[in-house]
Amino acid sequence: MADFRIDTDRLVLRNWKPGDIDRYAAVANTPAVTRWLGPPLDAEALAATEERVVACHEQHGYCFWLLERQHDGGHLAGEVLGFCGIKRDDAPGSPYFGGFEIGWRLREDAWGMGYAKEASTAALDAAFRQFGADEVIAYTVIENTPSWGLMERLGMRRREDLDYEDRRFVLPAQLAWTITAEAWSTRSA
Ligand SMILES: CC(C)(COP(=O)(O)OP(=O)(O)OC[C@H]1O[C@@H](n2cnc3c(N)ncnc32)[C@H](O)[C@@H]1OP(=O)(O)O)[C@@H](O)C(=O)NCCC(=O)NCCS
Repeated sequence: MADFRIDTDRLVLRNWKPGDIDRYAAVANTPAVTRWLGPPLDAEALAATEERVVACHEQHGYCFWLLERQHDGGHLAGEVLGFCGIKRDDAPGSPYFGGFEIGWRLREDAWGMGYAKEASTAALDAAFRQFGADEVIAYTVIENTPSWGLMERLGMRRREDLDYEDRRFVLPAQLAWTITAEAWSTRSA
């Protein structure tokens, strides 16, 4: 599969290369970042994550892309900020299994700067315009207000009918938000 890359004003979203998982883990595999998901990932879980994102890219041409800083003021270009991208919902028991899902995870010192909104806007654009999604889902837990706040700022709509329990997480109740291609193309923001 050819490499994939999106450039936004301040960010780069791209497929993962050898060594990226270590660069990601060094800055974003922290208790604050994984607070609502569970403890930080151990070496085995990080290797499984790398295998999953690489396989997703190879199979579909998209994945939960690595997020790097573009040239941005005094900051170093190429610094890893986290990940943001799309995949197919593969959670056991999910009523949306096989559908397009968006996800994000940024290092703590990159919160509150609009990077997650910038990255997720680019990822949704790609989902609808390049990869043919009709609708995209996002999940979080009720306690994760920054994550569902972002979903709502993106124009995603709460979908109680698609909530489910995922026992792999410390907080299993997964709440769903979706947005359709039509709603995305006619949004005002
Ligand atoms: C969820 C997460 C990605 C949200 O990140 P975030 O930084 O809060 O989200 P945004 O990029 O939308 O930025 C939000 C704030 O930045 C502010 N901001 C600052 N500078 C900005 C700029 N130049 N442009 C846009 N917004 C800017 C916005 O005003 C916004 O604040 P507000 O909502 O109070 O008005 C982040 O909290 C995270 O990585 N959490 C840990 C991992 C996680 O839980 N992932 C989700 C699992 S379901």
